[in-house]
Amino acid sequence: MYLEKDDHIRDFIKYGHRKDKEDEPETALIRMPAYGKSLSARQVEDLVAYVKGVSAFYPGMPDSARKGMEAAQAAGCFGCHGPSGRGGIRNPGSFKGIIPGWDDPGLADLTRNGSETEEWIRTGTLKRLEANGIAHHFLHAQRVQMPAYDTLLSEERIGDIGRFINWLRNDRK
Ligand code: HEC
Repeated sequence: MYLEKDDHIRDFIKYGHRKDKEDEPETALIRMPAYGKSLSARQVEDLVAYVKGVSAFYPGMPDSARKGMEAAQAAGCFGCHGPSGRGGIRNPGSFKGIIPGWDDPGLADLTRNGSETEEWIRTGTLKRLEANGIAHHFLHAQRVQMPAYDTLLSEERIGDIGRFINWLRNDRK
């Protein structure tokens, strides 16, 4: 998108356009209304935070990660893992009671490296965890189970998505 920082989101909510692009000719038929007069400063800040949360606002994201994010979107991962994979739906019986975000520090030990992430996407689980009694219990007690994608996604797509998850965890500022 053409928003590169928080200010740009804030401007759109308050004025209906970017302040620094005010002089450019307006071409859109339907224009974003300005909400600055009807919202408090606090409400505007809450909305900025919300828009960032749900819109995958990652201005510095490299193309390799973006490709994976788009593949994950197309594959339907975000229906369970939440907007851009950062925290999903309720999951009774699981470790946390919800499907955690891919960037959740609590999951750092679930998949320890890129090849485990790819194994998880392919099979919906990990051989290493299945062999551990407690982990095995939680994996199978949780109501929503991670599907296996090996027959649905090519190795190339799985690699792309893995790179996105890796970026989300380690490189996102
Ligand atoms: C039907 C719901 C559902 C869908 C759809 C889904 N997952 Fe999952 N996923 C889960 C559950 C449940 C877990 C286990 C979380 C736990 O144990 O706390 C999980 C765990 C994971 C993990 C391991 C945990 C971690 O963060 O390292 C990865 C990686 C993952 N999913 C990737 C994907 C990808 C990529 C897609 C799309 C191709 C996808 N999932 C689609 C439900 C889903």
